Amino acid sequence: MKTKILTILKENGGYVSGQALCSQLGVSRTAVWKAVKLLEEEGCRIEAVRNKGYRLLSVEDGIGGAQIGSLLKTKYMGRKLVYFRETDSTNIQIKKLAEAGSPEGTLVVAESQTAGKGRRGRSWSSPAGSSIYMSYLLRPKIPPYSASMLTLLAGMACVTAIREETGLNSAIKWPNDLVIGGKKICGILTEMSTELEEIHYIFTGIGINVNQTSFPQEIQETATSLKLESKKPEEISRSALIASCMKRFEHYYERFLLSGDFSELKEEYEGMLANLGREVLVLDPAGEYKGICRGIDNKGQLLVELGDGSKKTVLSGEVSVRGIYGYV
Ligand code: BTN
Repeated sequence: MKTKILTILKENGGYVSGQALCSQLGVSRTAVWKAVKLLEEEGCRIEAVRNKGYRLLSVEDGIGGAQIGSLLKTKYMGRKLVYFRETDSTNIQIKKLAEAGSPEGTLVVAESQTAGKGRRGRSWSSPAGSSIYMSYLLRPKIPPYSASMLTLLAGMACVTAIREETGLNSAIKWPNDLVIGGKKICGILTEMSTELEEIHYIFTGIGINVNQTSFPQEIQETATSLKLESKKPEEISRSALIASCMKRFEHYYERFLLSGDFSELKEEYEGMLANLGREVLVLDPAGEYKGICRGIDNKGQLLVELGDGSKKTVLSGEVSVRGIYGYV
């Protein structure tokens, strides 16, 4: 209901009477008043004038559920949205929702995380105010070995959403990171619950550095934010970026589900791939090797050409790929 009220106030621009809101939404005046109070807590300034009604004065770019909801242009991605000012980890919360039967597309967003998870058991620093921390739930009917492709889809969605919202060109460092100019701006962590041949559910957690203006010294050389890269003084809207990621993800996910592989999307993906044509060092537990990245195959595996011209495929999750020079 908050989302609907915010959308009506935004579209109208002027005063909307309490009565009009009540009849459009089929609820009581008290329910409208309560929802307006919640919107105010999420950073919306709303004026209430007797005999005129409610008017939206401004929306602070928080990432409250109603703000994201009013910008969503999706069928199911983010349509069920759970927002936390602070939580342990959006991946932990989405898992709980998945276990409780939440539908495909459910999105959890947090302003800050106290136990943000990175890959390989690392933590993900998650202070409030400038980043995106979000996780969404999927229930695809695909075999467990195809699940890693959903991480690649998330990467594609983020690259296109970032381009759409900021004009910045980011690239995918296969399989889980987004980079700009060789520095990381986004990390992706996909987890799932499976049983033999069947995926029960799968969820992808995404952390994006949006409005940071500096980073701790230890990561200054390897991390950047969209704001730092845009070199513009104004803040980038996190809620608009989240809504755009949802729309883009839904688009790529539906194309992916038609074939269940990357045959349709390979070319577009390779256009976003930071590693393409570059020398990579593959940190395979069975032995490190170097080669030139030649793109991906239909399963989303990285193709690496060795010195003798032969090609190896690298399964995501199995190895870590680093560029020989710099972070990419
Ligand atoms: C990486 O190591 O690069 C992956 C980082 C993934 C971080 C995101 S933030 C939102 C979601 N919740 C978590 O606890 N982790 C992911």
